Amino acid sequence: MEFKHTSVLLKETIEALNIVPGGVYLDGTLGGGGHAFEVCKKLNDNGRLYGIDQDADAIKAAGKRLEVFGEKAVIIRDNYCNAREVLREQGVEKVDGIVLDLGVSSYQLDTVERGFTYKYDTPLDMRMDQRQMLTARNIVNEYDEKMLYRVIRDYGEDQFAKNIAKHIVQARRNKPIETTFELNEVIRAAIPAKLRAAGGHPSKRTFQAIRIECNHELEVLRNTLGDLIHLLHPQGRLCIITFHSLEDRIVKSFFKEMENPCTCPPEFPVCICGKLPYGRVVTRKPVLPSQEELEVNSRSKSAKLRVFERI
Ligand SMILES: C[S@@+](CC[C@H](N)C(=O)[O-])C[C@H]1O[C@@H](n2cnc3c(N)ncnc32)[C@H](O)[C@@H]1O
Repeated sequence: MEFKHTSVLLKETIEALNIVPGGVYLDGTLGGGGHAFEVCKKLNDNGRLYGIDQDADAIKAAGKRLEVFGEKAVIIRDNYCNAREVLREQGVEKVDGIVLDLGVSSYQLDTVERGFTYKYDTPLDMRMDQRQMLTARNIVNEYDEKMLYRVIRDYGEDQFAKNIAKHIVQARRNKPIETTFELNEVIRAAIPAKLRAAGGHPSKRTFQAIRIECNHELEVLRNTLGDLIHLLHPQGRLCIITFHSLEDRIVKSFFKEMENPCTCPPEFPVCICGKLPYGRVVTRKPVLPSQEELEVNSRSKSAKLRVFERI
């Protein structure tokens, strides 16, 4: 299958990066290489783009797309949580800019056998990194009811989380839940008929929750932001595109804390904690897709770009 993915907030992200032609850049979520391609276009022979993705298909697609740039583009299959070590192995201690375009690519969603979609019947999988052991099938069949409830409540923000978890546990007593359509049926039955029509497909939130859990998406983001800030040269920029409020909240509050890490009580006339700002938030409000982009790419609907600049 051809790798199809339309890059979101492309122009805005490239502008926000303030690219220096001889600089070093990191794309931690390379995907099809759409953002990386535009970065490479702006680099001279001394410039470098390091692209990381954990998905073998993305690595292959980006490799092809960025081939024209030769040594300028270095592609590595890994999790961006290891960015610091990965770059160190390449002899890189600091970079001039970082892009994270979070979540899954359209290619991953549209490749039925990857098991991300509730729209087609396929075995439950949802791994971005095909080498990983944990799959959506394990989560659905092996987590206890309380854990399932927490995952669906916290990562899906589904008001019927408790009932969905209960129905999953009941259904799997007879036989394991193996496919996306089997899971759809269980979720449908757990949501009162009257309320099913509201809020889109009944499985949407639960599938998002299981995907986030399967790929540890929020833990990875939360635990890696500090490393990314430390990787930046002064004036280097960290650009992050999020696709749901859970991710956006993490980025927004982290940026705020990095801008003002002082922990002194507000009534203190001067700071005594000694914690100094790491930089400034460039985007007071997140950058959103233009009307034009929304018209051509419905998947950009929930995208938000936030940018931080290192001192
Ligand atoms: C939205 S796509 C990126 C698309 C890309 N910016 C483009 O324009 O083609 C997100 C990509 O990030 C990858 N990804 C998500 N979380 C990751 C992580 N923690 N480590 C490495 N790759 C990750 C996914 O496998 C997917 O290919």
